[in-house]
Amino acid sequence: MPVKPFHLAWFLQGSSAQGWGEPWTGHIGRSWMVPELFLDLARMLERACFDYILLEDSSYVGESYGGSTEIYLKHGLAVPRQDPSVVAALMTQVTSRIGIVPTFGTYAYHPYLLSRLVATLDQVSSGRIGWNMVTGSSDFAAMNFGMNGMPEHDLRYDMADEYIDVCRRLWNSWEPDAVVADEENGVLVDHAKVRAVNFEGRFFKTRGPLNSGPCVQGQPVIAQAGGSPRGREFAARHADTIVANVKGIAAMKAYRDDVRTRMASLGRDPESCKVLFMIAPILGETDAEAQERKRIRAARAAETIPQRLAFLGKITNIDFAKLPLDEPLGALTTNGHQQSLDMFLRKAGNRTLREAMTDYNATELSVELIGTPDAVAARMGEVMQEVGGDGFLFSLPNVSRRVLAEIEDGLVPALQRRGLARAGYAHPHFRDNLLAF
Ligand SMILES: Cc1cc2nc3c(=O)[nH]c(=O)nc-3n(C[C@H](O)[C@H](O)[C@H](O)COP(=O)(O)O)c2cc1C
Repeated sequence: MPVKPFHLAWFLQGSSAQGWGEPWTGHIGRSWMVPELFLDLARMLERACFDYILLEDSSYVGESYGGSTEIYLKHGLAVPRQDPSVVAALMTQVTSRIGIVPTFGTYAYHPYLLSRLVATLDQVSSGRIGWNMVTGSSDFAAMNFGMNGMPEHDLRYDMADEYIDVCRRLWNSWEPDAVVADEENGVLVDHAKVRAVNFEGRFFKTRGPLNSGPCVQGQPVIAQAGGSPRGREFAARHADTIVANVKGIAAMKAYRDDVRTRMASLGRDPESCKVLFMIAPILGETDAEAQERKRIRAARAAETIPQRLAFLGKITNIDFAKLPLDEPLGALTTNGHQQSLDMFLRKAGNRTLREAMTDYNATELSVELIGTPDAVAARMGEVMQEVGGDGFLFSLPNVSRRVLAEIEDGLVPALQRRGLARAGYAHPHFRDNLLAF
């Protein structure tokens, strides 16, 4: 079979004290407010020809573990988080080809405000913006915006279906050639090409047109990560790219096949959406060095069980501090990230919470990748052959310039030598590069 390149993206855990407590992070505990590290990251990943950087976000301080904010604040677990739109805008100004994908929760913005914000970002980036469209999952986040709690899980997706419909109408309210800038006749905008939007649905109401002008890409790239059956249906309907955390090649293939089948039955071309799987490769100059780094990471993971339980509790709204560490887990349910909880429970099986947590998320996400850049590149190629496509989303807990350099100057050149990663961008706009192969 001919070698086909695949897509690469980076999952940045929000704008924050990245890799706090990890080696090689300099003075990150104090320097995070000024985003030099994130701007360097954007420059480096663009030199490595990544498709995009996805900026995670959640608009609240965790309080699930033991009913306290302490563990979250003490260890910098998903806090502090700067507003992703600001960091995204700054990233667009130091790059010219890579896609930038901030996360915005549909519970936190009126669709008009969101459409305008994303359209503006698409303009200032010259057509390189995506939106990681999340419905939110935490009652604490909902309360920060005046609600009593999050709507029920599947209802959130029903609301999001209507939400994106409103956004698309607003983005379409300007024809691409509405701005004529005709100096001779003194016409900036052809008013006949800017249409009213009067929308009144089950959940949202707005008028239009948008006052920010058209998106450069027409519509921004939509990224989505719904993992439950309802979430997948939503993503299959709307997304240009899906980021997925499923374990093992069989599950990856099944996930992608499922999304593509859903897309086809919705009348969409499955090639018009790229599914990227989460990975956290550990590289070394030799295999032995990489294995030693894995050992250090695993030892670190064993020491940080409460922190990692607090993180899982944050996205599932479960207080894991209340559960005995040395007993098997009972049945647990969530109105938060259903897929993350299902995956954890499946992995835990009959083991105790402590045992289950010891290796959870330690080094593998979708597949384990450990070794020299060449060996990891070869393995990534094999995995993609078996899954069928479309690429990988790097999600590393220890973001630093050193780790980024290992990927830019070690792993990506090894992928490029094999024809598995692009060596240059073919198009100026994000979606065109995303759908180029
Ligand atoms: C790679 C990845 C990135 C995600 N980023 C965010 C995020 O930034 N903010 C957020 O609220 N949820 C985020 N999510 C959660 C998803 O939006 C979704 O709620 C989750 O995958 C569970 O889907 P489900 O409820 O359909 O099972 C992310 C999920 C994945 C797999």
